[in-house]
Amino acid sequence: MKRNQIITAIDVGTTKVATIIAECSEEGAVRVLGVGIAPSYGMHKGLVVDINDAKESIRESVRRAEQSCSMKISSAYVGVTGRHVISNNNHGVVAITNMDRVVKPSDLRRVMSTTGAVKVPSDRKLLHVIPRNYSVDGQNGVKNPVGMHGERLDVEAHIITAASNSINNLVQCIHGIGLDIDDMVLEPLASSEAVLTEEERQKGVAIADIGGGTTDVCIFRDGSIFHTAILPVAGYQMTRDLAVGLGLGQDVAEEMKKRYGTVIPIENESAIDQISKMSEDSQGIAYQTLCEILRARVEEILRLIILELPSSNYESIIPAGLVLTGGSSNIAGIEQLGSEILKLPVRIGYPLHVSGITDVLRDPAHATGVGLLLWGSKNQPQTKTWQKKGFGSMLRGLANKISKLFG
Ligand SMILES: Nc1ncnc2c1ncn2[C@@H]1O[C@H](COP(=O)(O)OP(=O)(O)OP(=O)(O)O)[C@@H](O)[C@H]1O
Ligand SMILES: [Mg+2]
Repeated sequence: MKRNQIITAIDVGTTKVATIIAECSEEGAVRVLGVGIAPSYGMHKGLVVDINDAKESIRESVRRAEQSCSMKISSAYVGVTGRHVISNNNHGVVAITNMDRVVKPSDLRRVMSTTGAVKVPSDRKLLHVIPRNYSVDGQNGVKNPVGMHGERLDVEAHIITAASNSINNLVQCIHGIGLDIDDMVLEPLASSEAVLTEEERQKGVAIADIGGGTTDVCIFRDGSIFHTAILPVAGYQMTRDLAVGLGLGQDVAEEMKKRYGTVIPIENESAIDQISKMSEDSQGIAYQTLCEILRARVEEILRLIILELPSSNYESIIPAGLVLTGGSSNIAGIEQLGSEILKLPVRIGYPLHVSGITDVLRDPAHATGVGLLLWGSKNQPQTKTWQKKGFGSMLRGLANKISKLFG
């Protein structure tokens, strides 16, 4: 990355659009200069459902961020989520044919192209090809095989694709406000950059970003991504359950959830008082019901996260436990409920690793935005893949991604 380059992240969430402008030093330190948060319209469960509304929400968020630091941006890293995202672990193998039998960067490119990433159907787009592990002549666990001697190179790669239509709608919104796209990054992958420690990734950990419309799950083992899943349940359903269960309007239910919502009832006279006023219900009962309704939904989300783990023996897969992030992880008692159900450590992931205007970003709701910046600080922009006029062929996209990985 060039000296003190400006990078921008746009997290187009179901409830809010967050634009963060930052300065990135040559050493990779990220300093936040401006933040713009605007309510999100035209999005449902992480997908664009109304291009004009979504575009205007993004425009407003970008305008606020630009205004906050008196700068104009021209491109951004953009988050992608939704049920259309699919991930697989694929295997690739090639023979090392160089005279000296030393693995070269070109061999890495060749082996990655045998993982099946080039066979992406035309209705899907390749988002990420992430090498998990290499082996040289059967010697497993090689992180970087360049320079090693051998005759056969194997790779395990995590391949993430998304539905072209969903991606194109988001691309249209960003291009529609005159911005280029540096890269499109899977949201939980971005969030994990902001909230996980290297030790957790090595030991094995799950991260769940519980937002407004989706719960995005990633599992890391041996330092790299192992599994990705997007669940269509999150904070919106909690609010709707309250609205239906307590006979409230959506706005009152949302406010009640954020102010007094807890999944483990505590002695709280003023909450009982306020809730009974807001719901016009008898004292005590409404508070208890509020907690029970929220607990049932949160428990369901936690159990859906567990179902994404590849084995019921969680401890062996994620000994470092579960890190909860996203706005809905703010609900009181969720850590305790999570560790009761999972019987493993559960913590809330607050976005870290950036300096500057961080007070407003010190909320799990901004894990994706901060993570997009960190992703941008570590990876080269992929403007050609997401350029304004046409998207280029899938092969060129793959070539970009692979050359990004190996310089
Ligand atoms: N204190 C709180 N208690 C409970 N829920 C909360 C609290 N604060 C925020 N939320 C919920 O967090 C959700 C928004 O989270 P977030 O900003 O991470 O979502 P998003 O990024 O817009 O959506 P998504 O990532 O699902 O597309 C809303 O449903 C909101 O009600
Ligand atoms: Mg989000």
